[in-house]
Amino acid sequence: MNRANGQPRPDNHVIVLFGATGDLAKRKLLPGLFHLFVAGLLPKGFRIIGSAPAAAAISDEQFRKHARDAVSQFGITKPDGQWQDFENHLSFTAAEPGKYADLVAAIARAEKEIGASSQGQSPKRLFHLAIPPVAFTSVVQMLGEAGLAEGAHVIIEKPFGTDLASAKALNETVHAVFSEDQVFRIDHFLGKESVDNILAFRFANGLFEPVWNRQHIQYVQIDVPETLSIEGRAAFYDATGAYRDMVVTHLFQVLAFLAMEPPVSLNAKHLRDEKEKVFEALRPIDPRHVVRGQYQGYRDEPGVAKDSGTETLAAVRVEVENWRWHGVPFFLRSGKSMAASRQVVTLGFREPPLRMFRAHRKDIPHGRVNEIVVDFADPGSIRTEFLAKIPGPELALGQSSMIFRYQDSFAAANALEGYERLILLAMLGDQSLFTRSDGVERVWEISQPLLDTPPPVEVYPQGSWGPSSVDKLVAPYRWHLTEPAAGVRGDGSPRSKEV
Ligand code: BG6
Repeated sequence: MNRANGQPRPDNHVIVLFGATGDLAKRKLLPGLFHLFVAGLLPKGFRIIGSAPAAAAISDEQFRKHARDAVSQFGITKPDGQWQDFENHLSFTAAEPGKYADLVAAIARAEKEIGASSQGQSPKRLFHLAIPPVAFTSVVQMLGEAGLAEGAHVIIEKPFGTDLASAKALNETVHAVFSEDQVFRIDHFLGKESVDNILAFRFANGLFEPVWNRQHIQYVQIDVPETLSIEGRAAFYDATGAYRDMVVTHLFQVLAFLAMEPPVSLNAKHLRDEKEKVFEALRPIDPRHVVRGQYQGYRDEPGVAKDSGTETLAAVRVEVENWRWHGVPFFLRSGKSMAASRQVVTLGFREPPLRMFRAHRKDIPHGRVNEIVVDFADPGSIRTEFLAKIPGPELALGQSSMIFRYQDSFAAANALEGYERLILLAMLGDQSLFTRSDGVERVWEISQPLLDTPPPVEVYPQGSWGPSSVDKLVAPYRWHLTEPAAGVRGDGSPRSKEV
């Protein structure tokens, strides 16, 4: 590893991007790789080989144009003066099970072009499997057969399996070709600055951790509504649904950071050991504590079955059965075509006795004060909501807040998107922010009762907060992000209201 501007810089690499013409590569990976390049965080010597099955093959020129278009449309850094230099590192080679000779040759060529480092090291290999989950097994086996796996790192997209049995089978297939320390199961929420900041917020301060437990916290919400619909992803989405797409993956990873004990260190073993302990402590999900919603009109989306029972919204109550969290419900919700796009964690604190304020407390909205609200959508913020005295002759209480905003507080220049950060870590061989086989299997294990007997889907209007059952699920509390009610802002933004 070298360093660039004080940041770690990976050794020379050949990166092979499977699914190079797909949606994820277009929206996140190609723009992300270009941003890393411009930030000086890609290795000194590197090549990016895009790959796809023969039926989707394109020329080098077409791939470069495709990448440029993707970066223009979705990149934070637009293809400027440095584009030409970056583009020279891109090429395309088709590959599929049984037909991989061209890819083997292309990798060998790229390695030769890069050459050995000054320490005599040949370039490393990184395979990114940005492909549909059904193709994971065949591509992993292909890499094994082609003799490309040795010493390589492999990034595998989510969802890793669709239930416990398939996750176990996939782990077996992967482990037949790669050892666990070569495997980087990616969950891009773990690369988000504000998600990692949960660890800093909790463990680097003496202020919050002492109250971060069931003695003081009444409920936790992890809420990720999206205004996006399925955006033409019917083939993937109708077979997947909101629970598998978002909850068992991203939301559980955020939950682990919120609920974990302090790790001995932030290295991969210690951090992941603590996360896995949280997953071990999760109670199997009770289907009665789950709401599955489907937005109106979902069944009319092109490619969706007319009688589809796939949920586009999932709201779940989960429990972490350990000394720290016993009795504290964790409410998780995510859905498409909802009223807002937000990524918000809310910790609701127990209400103290408010007797001395009796005359002024009648309107204090239950469960709407005493909250810490972590907004983890980039660039992110943390807000504490509390009651304060309103200036005046009486001791009347008003709802107030203190807020930290990333964008006001630090130079954004170093900020990397979730994917960018994680691709960089995979090149550096740092697995701390990637999921481990045992953790992945455990989250499927506790999901099994729900997968076996899912409650029926309930239709909700597009642009809403979901069917009314999602509110019943959290009763007697309320979702922090909720239907705007009189005097209350539905987007969870600071309110100033006399109570
Ligand atoms: C993806 C899901 O993993 O995450 C999408 O497949 C979802 O359905 C997306 O929209 C949300 O991620 P982001 O980058 O908007 O935080």
